[in-house]
Amino acid sequence: MLLSSRLPHSFEPNALSAALARLRGEGRTILDLTVSNPTRCGFAYPETEIRAALSSPGVLAYDPDPLGSRAAREAVAAHHGHGLQADDLLLTASTSEGYGLLFKLLGDPGDEILVPSPSYPLFEWLARLEGLRARPVPSYFHDRWHLDLGALEVAVGPRTRAVVVVNPNNPTGHFLSRAEWNGLTALCARHGLALLVDEVFADYALEPPADRLATALEDANPPCPVFLLSGLSKVAALPQLKLGWTAARGAGAAVHLEALAFLADQYLSVSAPVQAAAPTLLALAPAIRAQVRARLSANLAALDAALARHPRLTRLPVEGGWSVLLRRPAVDADEACALRLLEQAAVLTHPGSFFDLPGDGHLVLSLLGPEAAFCEGLDRMLPIL
Ligand SMILES: Cc1ncc(COP(=O)(O)O)c(C=O)c1O
Repeated sequence: MLLSSRLPHSFEPNALSAALARLRGEGRTILDLTVSNPTRCGFAYPETEIRAALSSPGVLAYDPDPLGSRAAREAVAAHHGHGLQADDLLLTASTSEGYGLLFKLLGDPGDEILVPSPSYPLFEWLARLEGLRARPVPSYFHDRWHLDLGALEVAVGPRTRAVVVVNPNNPTGHFLSRAEWNGLTALCARHGLALLVDEVFADYALEPPADRLATALEDANPPCPVFLLSGLSKVAALPQLKLGWTAARGAGAAVHLEALAFLADQYLSVSAPVQAAAPTLLALAPAIRAQVRARLSANLAALDAALARHPRLTRLPVEGGWSVLLRRPAVDADEACALRLLEQAAVLTHPGSFFDLPGDGHLVLSLLGPEAAFCEGLDRMLPIL
Protein backbone atom coordinates (compact mmCIF):
# COMPACT_ATOMS: atom_id res chain seq x y z
CA MET A 1 0.00 0.00 0.00
CA LEU A 2 1.42 3.40 -1.01
CA LEU A 3 0.80 5.40 2.14
CA SER A 4 3.09 7.93 3.79
CA SER A 5 4.56 6.84 7.11
CA ARG A 6 3.24 10.14 8.49
CA LEU A 7 -0.26 8.63 8.51
CA PRO A 8 -1.72 6.48 11.32
CA HIS A 9 -1.10 2.74 11.00
CA SER A 10 -4.82 2.12 11.24
CA PHE A 11 -7.94 4.19 10.79
CA GLU A 12 -9.95 2.02 13.19
CA PRO A 13 -12.07 4.08 15.61
CA ASN A 14 -11.04 3.84 19.26
CA ALA A 15 -13.14 1.73 21.64
CA LEU A 16 -15.21 4.71 22.82
CA SER A 17 -16.07 5.90 19.29
CA ALA A 18 -16.89 2.34 18.24
CA ALA A 19 -19.21 1.87 21.23
CA LEU A 20 -20.85 5.24 20.53
CA ALA A 21 -21.52 4.30 16.90
CA ARG A 22 -22.93 0.91 17.94
CA LEU A 23 -25.25 2.38 20.57
CA ARG A 24 -26.48 5.08 18.22
CA GLY A 25 -26.99 2.40 15.56
CA GLU A 26 -29.21 0.55 18.08
CA GLY A 27 -31.28 3.73 18.43
CA ARG A 28 -30.05 4.72 21.90
CA THR A 29 -30.17 8.46 22.62
CA ILE A 30 -26.83 9.50 24.06
CA LEU A 31 -26.37 12.60 26.19
CA ASP A 32 -23.18 14.13 24.84
CA LEU A 33 -21.19 15.84 27.59
CA THR A 34 -18.26 16.31 25.21
CA VAL A 35 -20.07 18.55 22.74
CA SER A 36 -17.76 21.25 21.45
CA ASN A 37 -19.67 22.24 18.33
CA PRO A 38 -21.43 25.49 19.32
CA THR A 39 -23.81 25.32 16.34
CA ARG A 40 -25.45 22.31 18.04
CA CYS A 41 -25.88 23.89 21.46
CA GLY A 42 -29.04 25.98 21.06
CA PHE A 43 -27.45 29.44 20.97
CA ALA A 44 -29.54 32.23 19.44
CA TYR A 45 -27.32 33.35 16.57
CA PRO A 46 -28.16 36.66 14.82
CA GLU A 47 -29.09 34.68 11.73
CA THR A 48 -30.40 37.53 9.58
CA GLU A 49 -27.26 39.59 10.12
CA ILE A 50 -24.95 36.62 9.51
CA ARG A 51 -26.75 35.72 6.29
CA ALA A 52 -26.68 39.36 5.14
CA ALA A 53 -22.95 39.61 5.85
CA LEU A 54 -22.36 36.51 3.74
CA SER A 55 -24.30 37.86 0.76
CA SER A 56 -22.78 41.32 0.37
CA PRO A 57 -21.53 42.32 -3.14
CA GLY A 58 -17.96 41.63 -1.94
CA VAL A 59 -18.59 37.87 -1.92
CA LEU A 60 -18.58 37.82 -5.73
CA ALA A 61 -15.19 39.50 -6.14
CA TYR A 62 -11.95 37.52 -6.32
CA ASP A 63 -9.03 39.73 -5.47
CA PRO A 64 -6.73 37.43 -3.53
CA ASP A 65 -4.10 38.66 -1.11
CA PRO A 66 -2.03 35.80 0.34
CA LEU A 67 -2.17 37.41 3.79
CA GLY A 68 -5.94 37.86 3.53
CA SER A 69 -8.00 40.95 2.69
CA ARG A 70 -6.81 44.10 4.41
CA ALA A 71 -10.34 44.98 5.61
CA ALA A 72 -10.69 41.58 7.30
CA ARG A 73 -7.22 41.83 8.85
CA GLU A 74 -8.03 45.32 10.15
CA ALA A 75 -11.17 43.95 11.81
CA VAL A 76 -9.18 41.11 13.41
CA ALA A 77 -6.52 43.58 14.60
CA ALA A 78 -9.22 45.79 16.14
CA HIS A 79 -10.75 42.74 17.86
CA HIS A 80 -7.43 41.99 19.57
CA GLY A 81 -6.29 45.56 20.31
CA HIS A 82 -2.96 45.84 22.16
CA GLY A 83 -1.47 47.69 19.19
CA LEU A 84 -1.95 44.77 16.77
CA GLN A 85 -1.97 45.95 13.14
CA ALA A 86 -3.36 44.45 9.94
CA ASP A 87 0.24 44.12 8.74
CA ASP A 88 1.00 41.75 11.65
CA LEU A 89 -1.62 39.23 10.51
CA LEU A 90 -2.13 36.29 8.17
CA LEU A 91 -5.64 34.89 7.62
CA THR A 92 -6.11 31.13 7.33
CA ALA A 93 -9.06 28.78 6.92
CA SER A 94 -8.62 27.56 10.51
CA THR A 95 -6.06 27.51 13.29
CA SER A 96 -5.21 23.98 12.12
CA GLU A 97 -4.13 25.46 8.80
CA GLY A 98 -2.22 28.15 10.70
CA TYR A 99 -0.30 25.43 12.59
CA GLY A 100 0.45 23.64 9.32
CA LEU A 101 1.90 26.83 7.79
CA LEU A 102 3.89 27.66 10.94
CA PHE A 103 5.35 24.16 11.13
CA LYS A 104 6.39 24.45 7.45
CA LEU A 105 7.83 27.89 8.20
CA LEU A 106 9.85 26.86 11.24
CA GLY A 107 10.88 23.25 10.84
CA ASP A 108 12.59 20.72 8.62
CA PRO A 109 11.53 17.06 8.58
CA GLY A 110 12.72 15.43 11.79
CA ASP A 111 12.66 18.62 13.84
CA GLU A 112 10.74 18.81 17.12
CA ILE A 113 8.26 21.05 18.84
CA LEU A 114 7.67 20.97 22.58
CA VAL A 115 4.09 20.89 23.85
CA PRO A 116 3.32 21.25 27.55
CA SER A 117 0.80 18.48 28.29
CA PRO A 118 -2.04 17.79 28.90
CA SER A 119 -3.15 19.72 25.85
CA TYR A 120 -5.07 19.74 22.58
CA PRO A 121 -4.56 16.23 21.11
CA LEU A 122 -4.45 17.48 17.51
CA PHE A 123 -0.90 18.84 17.91
CA GLU A 124 0.62 15.40 17.59
CA TRP A 125 -0.95 14.89 14.16
CA LEU A 126 -0.61 18.45 12.93
CA ALA A 127 3.13 18.24 13.62
CA ARG A 128 3.55 14.72 12.28
CA LEU A 129 1.81 15.53 9.03
CA GLU A 130 4.45 18.23 8.48
CA GLY A 131 7.24 15.73 9.22
CA LEU A 132 7.85 17.13 12.73
CA ARG A 133 7.64 15.44 16.10
CA ALA A 134 5.51 16.94 18.89
CA ARG A 135 7.21 16.09 22.15
CA PRO A 136 4.92 16.36 25.22
CA VAL A 137 6.39 17.91 28.37
CA PRO A 138 4.15 17.31 31.40
CA SER A 139 2.81 20.33 33.29
CA TYR A 140 1.82 19.71 36.89
CA PHE A 141 -1.15 20.50 39.12
CA HIS A 142 -0.53 21.95 42.54
CA ASP A 143 -3.56 24.03 43.59
CA ARG A 144 -3.53 25.18 39.96
CA TRP A 145 -1.78 24.10 36.78
CA HIS A 146 1.85 25.08 36.32
CA LEU A 147 4.16 24.90 33.33
CA ASP A 148 7.23 22.90 34.23
CA LEU A 149 9.83 25.34 32.93
CA GLY A 150 12.68 23.18 34.24
CA ALA A 151 11.37 20.15 32.34
CA LEU A 152 10.92 22.27 29.20
CA GLU A 153 14.51 23.48 29.47
CA VAL A 154 15.77 19.90 29.80
CA ALA A 155 13.62 18.77 26.85
CA VAL A 156 15.15 21.31 24.43
CA GLY A 157 17.41 19.41 22.04
CA PRO A 158 19.36 20.17 18.87
CA ARG A 159 16.26 19.59 16.70
CA THR A 160 13.84 21.66 18.80
CA ARG A 161 12.37 24.57 16.85
CA ALA A 162 9.39 25.83 18.84
CA VAL A 163 7.21 25.57 21.93
CA VAL A 164 3.41 25.49 21.54
CA VAL A 165 1.17 26.63 24.40
CA VAL A 166 -2.58 27.14 24.60
CA ASN A 167 -3.71 30.11 26.69
CA PRO A 168 -6.03 29.28 28.37
CA ASN A 169 -5.28 25.64 27.80
CA ASN A 170 -7.63 22.98 26.48
CA PRO A 171 -8.72 20.95 28.45
CA THR A 172 -7.16 22.20 31.72
CA GLY A 173 -8.31 25.83 31.42
CA HIS A 174 -4.88 26.95 32.64
CA PHE A 175 -4.05 30.59 31.88
CA LEU A 176 -0.31 31.25 31.84
CA SER A 177 0.75 33.48 34.72
CA ARG A 178 2.84 36.53 33.82
CA ALA A 179 5.79 34.88 35.58
CA GLU A 180 5.35 31.76 33.41
CA TRP A 181 5.19 33.96 30.31
CA ASN A 182 8.43 35.72 31.24
CA GLY A 183 10.13 32.40 31.97
CA LEU A 184 8.86 30.83 28.74
CA THR A 185 9.83 33.71 26.43
CA ALA A 186 13.27 33.92 28.09
CA LEU A 187 13.72 30.15 27.59
CA CYS A 188 12.74 30.43 23.92
CA ALA A 189 15.09 33.40 23.42
CA ARG A 190 17.98 31.51 25.08
CA HIS A 191 17.55 28.52 22.80
CA GLY A 192 16.57 30.32 19.59
CA LEU A 193 13.04 28.87 19.59
CA ALA A 194 9.76 30.31 18.36
CA LEU A 195 6.77 30.44 20.71
CA LEU A 196 3.33 29.58 19.33
CA VAL A 197 0.44 30.73 21.52
CA ASP A 198 -3.05 29.44 20.76
CA GLU A 199 -5.54 31.91 22.20
CA VAL A 200 -8.79 30.59 20.74
CA PHE A 201 -10.29 30.48 24.25
CA ALA A 202 -8.82 33.77 25.52
CA ASP A 203 -12.24 35.48 25.58
CA TYR A 204 -13.62 32.82 27.91
CA ALA A 205 -12.13 33.49 31.33
CA LEU A 206 -14.23 31.79 34.03
CA GLU A 207 -12.24 31.69 37.28
CA PRO A 208 -9.17 33.66 36.19
CA PRO A 209 -6.30 34.10 38.62
CA ALA A 210 -5.18 37.70 39.19
CA ASP A 211 -1.73 37.13 37.72
CA ARG A 212 -2.94 35.61 34.47
CA LEU A 213 -1.57 36.59 31.10
CA ALA A 214 -4.88 37.56 29.43
CA THR A 215 -3.15 37.55 26.03
CA ALA A 216 0.36 37.21 24.68
CA LEU A 217 -0.21 40.63 23.07
CA GLU A 218 0.25 42.20 26.52
CA ASP A 219 3.94 41.77 25.73
CA ALA A 220 4.68 44.32 22.97
CA ASN A 221 8.34 43.32 22.69
CA PRO A 222 8.83 39.63 23.41
CA PRO A 223 12.48 38.50 23.37
CA CYS A 224 11.69 35.60 20.98
CA PRO A 225 9.51 35.23 17.88
CA VAL A 226 5.87 34.88 19.02
CA PHE A 227 3.01 33.64 16.86
CA LEU A 228 -0.51 34.04 18.19
CA LEU A 229 -3.29 31.88 16.74
CA SER A 230 -7.03 32.37 16.99
CA GLY A 231 -10.15 32.25 14.86
CA LEU A 232 -13.88 32.63 14.44
CA SER A 233 -14.57 29.07 15.61
CA LYS A 234 -14.28 30.18 19.24
CA VAL A 235 -14.14 34.01 19.02
CA ALA A 236 -17.58 34.08 17.37
CA ALA A 237 -18.63 30.45 17.99
CA LEU A 238 -18.83 30.09 14.19
CA PRO A 239 -16.59 27.10 13.31
CA GLN A 240 -18.47 26.41 10.07
CA LEU A 241 -17.31 29.69 8.51
CA LYS A 242 -13.68 28.55 8.55
CA LEU A 243 -11.69 31.67 9.35
CA GLY A 244 -8.60 31.65 11.54
CA TRP A 245 -5.61 33.93 11.83
CA THR A 246 -2.01 34.06 12.93
CA ALA A 247 -0.27 37.19 14.27
CA ALA A 248 3.52 37.47 14.27
CA ARG A 249 5.46 39.48 16.84
CA GLY A 250 8.99 39.66 18.19
CA ALA A 251 12.31 39.17 16.45
CA GLY A 252 12.03 38.56 12.72
CA ALA A 253 8.28 39.22 12.51
CA ALA A 254 8.48 41.06 9.16
CA VAL A 255 10.47 38.25 7.53
CA HIS A 256 8.22 35.62 9.09
CA LEU A 257 5.15 37.31 7.61
CA GLU A 258 6.78 37.57 4.22
CA ALA A 259 7.56 33.84 4.32
CA LEU A 260 4.06 33.02 5.59
CA ALA A 261 2.61 35.02 2.67
CA PHE A 262 4.72 32.89 0.32
CA LEU A 263 3.41 29.69 1.94
CA ALA A 264 -0.20 30.88 1.97
CA ASP A 265 0.10 31.94 -1.68
CA GLN A 266 0.47 28.27 -2.64
CA TYR A 267 -3.03 27.58 -1.28
CA LEU A 268 -5.07 30.81 -1.12
CA SER A 269 -7.51 28.81 0.97
CA VAL A 270 -9.56 31.47 2.72
CA SER A 271 -12.82 32.07 0.85
CA ALA A 272 -13.76 35.55 -0.36
CA PRO A 273 -17.23 35.39 1.28
CA VAL A 274 -15.89 34.87 4.79
CA GLN A 275 -13.27 37.58 4.31
CA ALA A 276 -15.91 40.03 3.08
CA ALA A 277 -18.13 39.14 6.04
CA ALA A 278 -15.38 39.17 8.69
CA PRO A 279 -15.79 42.80 9.89
CA THR A 280 -19.54 42.27 10.44
CA LEU A 281 -19.05 38.83 12.00
CA LEU A 282 -16.51 40.23 14.45
CA ALA A 283 -18.93 43.06 15.29
CA LEU A 284 -21.63 40.45 16.04
CA ALA A 285 -19.25 38.24 18.03
CA PRO A 286 -19.46 39.91 21.48
CA ALA A 287 -23.21 39.19 21.74
CA ILE A 288 -22.65 35.56 20.74
CA ARG A 289 -19.76 35.18 23.19
CA ALA A 290 -21.94 36.61 25.97
CA GLN A 291 -24.38 33.72 25.46
CA VAL A 292 -21.55 31.19 25.45
CA ARG A 293 -20.08 32.67 28.64
CA ALA A 294 -23.49 32.58 30.35
CA ARG A 295 -23.84 28.91 29.36
CA LEU A 296 -20.38 27.99 30.64
CA SER A 297 -21.05 29.71 33.98
CA ALA A 298 -24.51 28.15 34.37
CA ASN A 299 -23.19 24.65 33.68
CA LEU A 300 -20.27 25.15 36.03
CA ALA A 301 -22.67 26.25 38.79
CA ALA A 302 -24.89 23.22 38.06
CA LEU A 303 -21.85 20.97 38.29
CA ASP A 304 -20.87 22.46 41.66
CA ALA A 305 -24.40 21.94 42.96
CA ALA A 306 -24.36 18.33 41.78
CA LEU A 307 -20.89 17.68 43.20
CA ALA A 308 -22.07 18.91 46.60
CA ARG A 309 -24.33 15.82 46.62
CA HIS A 310 -21.38 13.52 45.74
CA PRO A 311 -18.54 14.47 48.04
CA ARG A 312 -16.20 11.77 46.75
CA LEU A 313 -16.07 13.65 43.44
CA THR A 314 -14.40 17.02 42.85
CA ARG A 315 -13.50 19.27 39.95
CA LEU A 316 -10.39 21.25 39.19
CA PRO A 317 -10.58 25.06 38.92
CA VAL A 318 -11.64 26.30 35.49
CA GLU A 319 -9.56 29.39 34.85
CA GLY A 320 -10.93 29.60 31.31
CA GLY A 321 -12.10 27.71 28.25
CA TRP A 322 -15.01 25.43 27.47
CA SER A 323 -14.25 22.34 29.54
CA VAL A 324 -13.85 21.11 33.10
CA LEU A 325 -11.84 18.27 34.62
CA LEU A 326 -13.81 16.04 36.95
CA ARG A 327 -11.82 14.09 39.50
CA ARG A 328 -13.10 10.68 40.62
CA PRO A 329 -11.73 7.78 42.64
CA ALA A 330 -9.55 5.87 40.17
CA VAL A 331 -11.27 2.53 40.67
CA ASP A 332 -10.85 1.77 36.98
CA ALA A 333 -8.93 3.20 34.02
CA ASP A 334 -10.31 6.46 32.61
CA GLU A 335 -11.15 4.90 29.26
CA ALA A 336 -12.92 1.97 30.93
CA CYS A 337 -14.84 4.45 33.06
CA ALA A 338 -15.96 6.48 30.01
CA LEU A 339 -17.08 3.24 28.31
CA ARG A 340 -18.99 2.23 31.44
CA LEU A 341 -20.78 5.60 31.55
CA LEU A 342 -21.67 5.27 27.88
CA GLU A 343 -23.01 1.72 28.19
CA GLN A 344 -24.74 2.06 31.57
CA ALA A 345 -25.91 5.67 31.60
CA ALA A 346 -25.91 6.60 27.89
CA VAL A 347 -23.67 9.57 28.71
CA LEU A 348 -20.63 10.45 26.59
CA THR A 349 -17.60 11.86 28.40
CA HIS A 350 -13.92 12.02 27.49
CA PRO A 351 -11.39 10.06 29.52
CA GLY A 352 -8.51 12.19 30.82
CA SER A 353 -6.15 9.82 29.03
CA PHE A 354 -7.37 11.21 25.67
CA PHE A 355 -5.62 14.44 26.66
CA ASP A 356 -2.59 12.77 28.28
CA LEU A 357 -3.68 13.54 31.83
CA PRO A 358 -1.29 11.53 33.97
CA GLY A 359 -2.62 8.41 35.70
CA ASP A 360 -6.31 7.66 36.07
CA GLY A 361 -9.07 9.53 37.87
CA HIS A 362 -10.05 12.30 35.43
CA LEU A 363 -12.93 12.77 33.05
CA VAL A 364 -13.18 15.79 30.76
CA LEU A 365 -16.61 17.37 30.40
CA SER A 366 -17.63 20.13 28.02
CA LEU A 367 -19.47 23.05 29.62
CA LEU A 368 -20.93 24.15 26.28
CA GLY A 369 -24.03 21.97 25.91
CA PRO A 370 -27.60 22.99 26.73
CA GLU A 371 -28.14 23.22 30.49
CA ALA A 372 -30.98 20.68 30.70
CA ALA A 373 -28.94 18.00 28.91
CA PHE A 374 -25.86 18.81 30.96
CA CYS A 375 -27.78 18.46 34.24
CA GLU A 376 -29.51 15.26 33.15
CA GLY A 377 -26.16 13.83 32.10
CA LEU A 378 -24.72 14.63 35.53
CA ASP A 379 -27.72 13.10 37.28
CA ARG A 380 -27.22 9.89 35.32
CA MET A 381 -23.46 9.57 35.64
CA LEU A 382 -22.36 10.96 39.00
CA PRO A 383 -24.03 8.24 41.12
CA ILE A 384 -22.13 5.49 39.28
CA LEU A 385 -18.68 7.08 39.38
C1 LIG B 1 -6.74 24.67 21.48
C2 LIG B 1 -7.56 24.71 20.22
N1 LIG B 1 -7.10 25.35 19.14
C3 LIG B 1 -7.81 25.40 18.01
C4 LIG B 1 -9.05 24.79 17.91
C5 LIG B 1 -9.85 24.78 16.65
O1 LIG B 1 -9.72 25.86 15.87
P1 LIG B 1 -10.07 25.84 14.32
O2 LIG B 1 -11.49 25.47 14.18
O3 LIG B 1 -9.82 27.27 13.95
O4 LIG B 1 -9.11 24.92 13.64
C6 LIG B 1 -9.56 24.12 19.00
C7 LIG B 1 -10.87 23.44 18.90
O5 LIG B 1 -11.37 22.85 19.80
C8 LIG B 1 -8.80 24.07 20.19
O6 LIG B 1 -9.25 23.41 21.25
